[in-house]
Amino acid sequence: MAASAKQLKLDQSRELESRARKFIPGVTQTISKRPAAFAPGYFPEYIDHASGSHIWDVDGNEYIDYVMACGPVTLGYCFPAVDQAIREQLAKGIIFTRLTSLEGQVAEMLSEAVPCAEMTRFFKGGVEANSAAVRLARAFTGRETVVSCGYRGWHDQWAVTHTPRGIPACLGDLIREFRYNDLASLEAALNASPDQVAAVIIDPVSGERPKEGFLAGVKELAHRHGALLIFDEIVTGFRLAVGGAQEYYGVVPDLAVFAKGIANGMPLAAVTGRREIMNVATEVFITLTYGDEALSLAAARATLKVLCTQDVPGHIWSVGEALVDGVSQAIEQTGVPFAFTGVEAMPAFVATHEFQSRLLDEETQQKAWVYLLGELARRGVIWRKHSLLVPCYSHSDKDITNTVAACREVFTNLSHLLGSGKLQEEIQLAELPVGFKRV
Ligand SMILES: Cc1ncc(COP(=O)(O)O)c(C=O)c1O
Repeated sequence: MAASAKQLKLDQSRELESRARKFIPGVTQTISKRPAAFAPGYFPEYIDHASGSHIWDVDGNEYIDYVMACGPVTLGYCFPAVDQAIREQLAKGIIFTRLTSLEGQVAEMLSEAVPCAEMTRFFKGGVEANSAAVRLARAFTGRETVVSCGYRGWHDQWAVTHTPRGIPACLGDLIREFRYNDLASLEAALNASPDQVAAVIIDPVSGERPKEGFLAGVKELAHRHGALLIFDEIVTGFRLAVGGAQEYYGVVPDLAVFAKGIANGMPLAAVTGRREIMNVATEVFITLTYGDEALSLAAARATLKVLCTQDVPGHIWSVGEALVDGVSQAIEQTGVPFAFTGVEAMPAFVATHEFQSRLLDEETQQKAWVYLLGELARRGVIWRKHSLLVPCYSHSDKDITNTVAACREVFTNLSHLLGSGKLQEEIQLAELPVGFKRV
């Protein structure tokens, strides 16, 4: 695929979207996948199929994908060993009246791979596992307050701090937040609820790189205040290292939550950690019909086998570094209002709101995003707005070379449009796109 632009045919996407809009509020279930989260009118909405690091939309256009379904597809789409495991399990059955040995096998594999993992409980989604981890921490410590940094998911107790509509306000009394890389803000949150904090929960890396000693400092402060440390490794797990950020940075939490990447896209999540805390799960009420659903567990077993025998994180870091280096050079050469933050295995691509030393207004920055996403799509690249990009094991050097070439071309054109003030005419929007800001 060369970096030359083509006219994108998006007729099928548009037709499907207008039909779905009548029957599904918001068009789809995941806020980060809604049309408004990308570049409505300039971007493909519906995917037909995928393979490795590439996806094909319903209009037949092919793209290199850097969003990878919001993170879970760490090995690549249709990864043969995982798909074969799913097919073999499908022939045997999806879920049963009594137990499947897969549960124990995957829990054992996690114990070998993840430093804190002595025992494990399985769930279907990340938010569910985060909520379960906190219930265990509350039961174990006999305390109720939780101190959190970062995004945890849509459940009441987490969303109350950022999107409170529809949530009982009293839940806000049980959660305090602190800022990433700011131990003083954690200490203040802990001091505000003396002897009441059950757990400090944090995604060890998100849109920022941890400062030297930050994660160890979080652990020390949590323990000094009698709270457990929970790592939300939903994104970092199986990506920074097989054993997640806790292995990569050498800071082992009491409990950890994994989801994306554990089964290469099949719906599986896990709470894992110290035996005496995990054993509390036999005394508190945590139960679900689909926790032992076998297709996802078979996918997890196959995924973990690949992770333990091939250097998946090594590849992810190396393609991530090549991507960040190449695209950063193009940003520097053209001055476009974007930057990378975070770490190369999951770099965040964010707006800087600044072009040629002047501050861009919100509308211009939004139009710059729409232009960028639409023009990259025309050159065969699926990019994301103000959020994490997630290179996978299937991204190749050729993918990166083509992507950097596409970025260079699009940034050069965008820089001219911003400089001449012509971006306003170039991008016509009925309304400014809004979306879910992940980082
Ligand atoms: C760090 C983190 N925690 C929790 C969640 C919620 O996971 P889920 O959407 O599977 O409920 C996400 C999802 O993006 C996440 O990135």
